[in-house]
Amino acid sequence: MNDGTDAGISPETTWEELESACLSCKKCALYETRTKLVFGVGNREAEIMFVGEGPGEHEDMTGEPFVGRAGKLLDEMLEIIDLSRGKNVYIANIVKCRPPANRDPLNTERDACIDWLRAQYRLIRPKIVVCLGRISAGELIGDADFKISRDHGRWYDKDGVRFISLYHPAALLRDQSRRPDTFVDLKSIQREIRKICERTY
Ligand code: URA
Repeated sequence: MNDGTDAGISPETTWEELESACLSCKKCALYETRTKLVFGVGNREAEIMFVGEGPGEHEDMTGEPFVGRAGKLLDEMLEIIDLSRGKNVYIANIVKCRPPANRDPLNTERDACIDWLRAQYRLIRPKIVVCLGRISAGELIGDADFKISRDHGRWYDKDGVRFISLYHPAALLRDQSRRPDTFVDLKSIQREIRKICERTY
């Protein structure tokens, strides 16, 4: 179980087994161009999970999600509602390897990669999942008609787990006019945390 082509993920798979199998994944062609695979970061017992799209240049170099300019903005967004990657959230991506030139991950790449995220989700058992951007939301919320400009900030219930999406931090860097909406969405997340999470934040 150390080759991602046959990861053999089971409900008993531990974090250590999962990470080591994932780090050697060759399930799609992105492994050929990656510098580092970006597995995920944060508290593995967090009640809140943030999911982005895929690594960019800085993440590919460091192996950590959201460390470039968009990542700095994400950290600021988390801080507004008393969250932090070092403390009470887990952050991962739909695809673990950087798509060349930061293009959108292809459907085949998403399909090849999604089991890693599913296994992380199973281990964390989050109460709240925050999708960052349209690709993450499209993949995880599973509404064929989903539109980020209309549906950001809307809550979805999936087997008792609460899902919400925000504009992707990179989109907020490009278009500052979306920031007030994101502030409202963050406050909604904060209220939901206070309502359903057990630990104090
Ligand atoms: N954008 C993402 O969606 N994920 C990262 O890790 C970095 C930038």
